[in-house]
Parts: sequence; structure tokens; C-alpha cells
Amino acid sequence: MIGDNLILLDKVDSTNNYIKKHWRELPSETVVWALEQTEGYGRKNSRWYSPLGGLWFSVLFKPRKRPLIPYYYLRMYSLVIYNVLKKKYKLNPIIKWPNDILINSKKVCGILGESVYNGGSPSCVIVGVGINVNNELREEISNSSIALKDVVGKEIPLRKLLNELNHVAYHSYYLKYFKPKAISAITKMWLNHLNVKVGDKVQVSTENNGSIYGIVNDIQSDYLEIMDDNGELRKINSGELIVI
Ligand code: BTN
Repeated sequence: MIGDNLILLDKVDSTNNYIKKHWRELPSETVVWALEQTEGYGRKNSRWYSPLGGLWFSVLFKPRKRPLIPYYYLRMYSLVIYNVLKKKYKLNPIIKWPNDILINSKKVCGILGESVYNGGSPSCVIVGVGINVNNELREEISNSSIALKDVVGKEIPLRKLLNELNHVAYHSYYLKYFKPKAISAITKMWLNHLNVKVGDKVQVSTENNGSIYGIVNDIQSDYLEIMDDNGELRKINSGELIVI
């Protein structure tokens, strides 16, 4: 099961990096959990501040028989975190495209997927999960992020939360859906839970092209396709998205 092989580190540069170095000798479904990361990173190589008190872990997947398409693993983890927070902690999370988890419109969790490629196909997928749990938040992100302890009103034991996530990931998703005929259900569930739907009117503030207004035409993990007000289809792969 996921996490049967658990490597707990006091401090590491990044749990994703750890797996990138050791994936060959580690079994599939290994979980690497670090109490602290010194060089945690997020999407687009952003810095991911990872002090004591947060839950920082990565999972290695190199299955022999199950599909190995990176975005399925990312979508699975957004659904896992969404469900655990909702059902076990009675919170009201949302999945913000593509895979951030928000509570009260603030980011509580980020997920980073990476693959090691051998020729054209991946040899393994690494899913890195960072959840603000009992940690303090840096001043700069305290307006846009939140820690679980501040929502729940008390500290949450990290090992318990990690076990719950591993259990739900394995039993509710990995065993059930990671088979060729069932895998598309992961995408359907992810789309159903996302904060944006095809047909929504949106505003996206991009770093380079200012704000784009339009209607969502297609949703993928690496881009949103938007029909802008001039009738042009535009692919947007990052930016702040507001559903109008
Ligand atoms: C994001 O929202 O940009 C994704 C953040 C992912 C952070 C986690 S913490 C555990 C793992 N190790 C890393 O260096 N990053 C991921």
C-alpha cells in the first residue's frame, strides 16, 4: 500500500529531489516525508517555504501494471486531499485549477508532479504534497495562504493526517481507478470538483498579457483554453483565475 515503505527525514533539501536521486532503488508507492525542507519548491520553480509543523512529503509511483501518466496522479492527489479535509475534518475545501487546495479562498495545499523520463515515456512519477498544517506562514503569503490549525482551531498530528491521506489514496483511488478502463473516471471526478467549469465566464490575470476575459472552452492540467472576447481561442498555462 502507499506508504508501507515510509522514509522519514528530519531535514532534507526537498522530498521530490530525494526521490529523484533514489527512485531506482526505492519500491513503487514509497513515501518520503520530511519534517523540514531547506529547498522545497513548487510549480514553475517557485520557492516552497517548508518549516517545522507543515506536512511535506512525496510519493513515488513506478507501477508495473498501472497507467503511468503524470497528470492522473496529480488529479488523484487533489481529490484525496479534498476528500480527507472534507470528510474527516469537516472542512469546506475547493480544488483550484489545476491542483491547489483552498479553504476560505486561501491556499492550504500545493501539489507538484514530476516525472523521470526514459526516452519518450516516464519511468516514474513523483507527486510532492505540501500542506500548511501546524506551521506559521511567512508574512508575504499570509494573505493568500492558510494553515489547517487556524481553520480547525487546534494542532493536527502530522502522522495521523499522512496515514489518512495514504489510506484514502490507495483504497479509494489507486486500487479502484488506476486501470486502463477506469482511469478516465479520475479526470471526470477532478473536473467535477474543480472551481472552474467549461462554459464559465472567467478573468485571468497573466504575468505577460494583462487580463484576459472570456469563456472556458477546455480544461487540461497544463492549460486552460479560453475563447476571448474577440472570439479568439487562447491557451493559458498560468495566471490568477477568477470565475465571474
Ligand atoms: C505548488 O503549489 O507550487 C506546489 C508545492 C509543492 C510543495 C511540496 S512540499 C513536498 C514536495 N517537495 C518539494 O520540494 N515540493 C513538494
